[in-house]
Amino acid sequence: MADYTVERRCAEALARAAGKRIPIERREGLSVRDKSENNPVTNVDVSIETFLQDELHSMFPDDRIVGEELEDEPGGDTDRAWYIDPIDGTLNFSRDLPMFCVSIALQVDRQSVVGVIYDPRRDELFSAERGEGAHLDGEPIRVSEESSLGDAVLVTGFPRSLEETEVDNLINFTQLTRASQGVRRLGSAALDLAYVATGRLDGFWEYHLNPWDTAAGYLLVQEAGGVVTDARGESYSAHEASTLATNPHLHEELVERLEDF
Ligand code: IPD
Ligand code: CA
Ligand code: CA
Repeated sequence: MADYTVERRCAEALARAAGKRIPIERREGLSVRDKSENNPVTNVDVSIETFLQDELHSMFPDDRIVGEELEDEPGGDTDRAWYIDPIDGTLNFSRDLPMFCVSIALQVDRQSVVGVIYDPRRDELFSAERGEGAHLDGEPIRVSEESSLGDAVLVTGFPRSLEETEVDNLINFTQLTRASQGVRRLGSAALDLAYVATGRLDGFWEYHLNPWDTAAGYLLVQEAGGVVTDARGESYSAHEASTLATNPHLHEELVERLEDF
């Protein structure tokens, strides 16, 4: 198996550096505007993505770089692409709520090989390399052992405009809230996945995410012993219309319970 230690270490250092800049830049002045309806972005999202894109481009000039806020950096003739979300959880960040993070992943042939998520508020660095396990601040992490849905704590999220999607995830939310110990909605898909990887939460699902939201987190869950598919149980690589990430015990039951839209 190819070795991505250099790329992982670079991603770890960059995620940490970006995360440290976020509160400093916020104190220097926060401005929020709507990219589209219900879709805020701040000056800090843009400047952190600029920093990450510039750094990655100087380290790996042939790689493609795809982020949420800027034009793609096309790179050379390559099957390698970095997916970056400078702030996952922008709505929380814009309101000074604590659930947000930096997410960086490297994909080769559209499969994540490195995934790093940094939470600056808790100074937590989640990191995974394909075949090398998943770690939180250097210590190995595992998904939970919970096998009873009734005792499980789950997490989900909703698309920005509920009207514009064919998926009514509120039905799932209602049914799974009844069937489990509870369903959280934290507002950062990347942190949701990191928390499934650590076993803090037992399962996550969401529809209509983008590759920069999940490319790091899904590798963390897989490398922590979890199962990641789309909501129908089909194979996953961060380019699908839905995401389901759980420990191995709960996966089948959650596939059966999620509405088949
Ligand atoms: C959002 C968050 C949220 C999810 C949204 C995403 P952003 O990303 O991950 O949890 O429900 O669908 O768009 O816009 O804060 O980077
Ligand atoms: Ca995001
Ligand atoms: Ca974002």
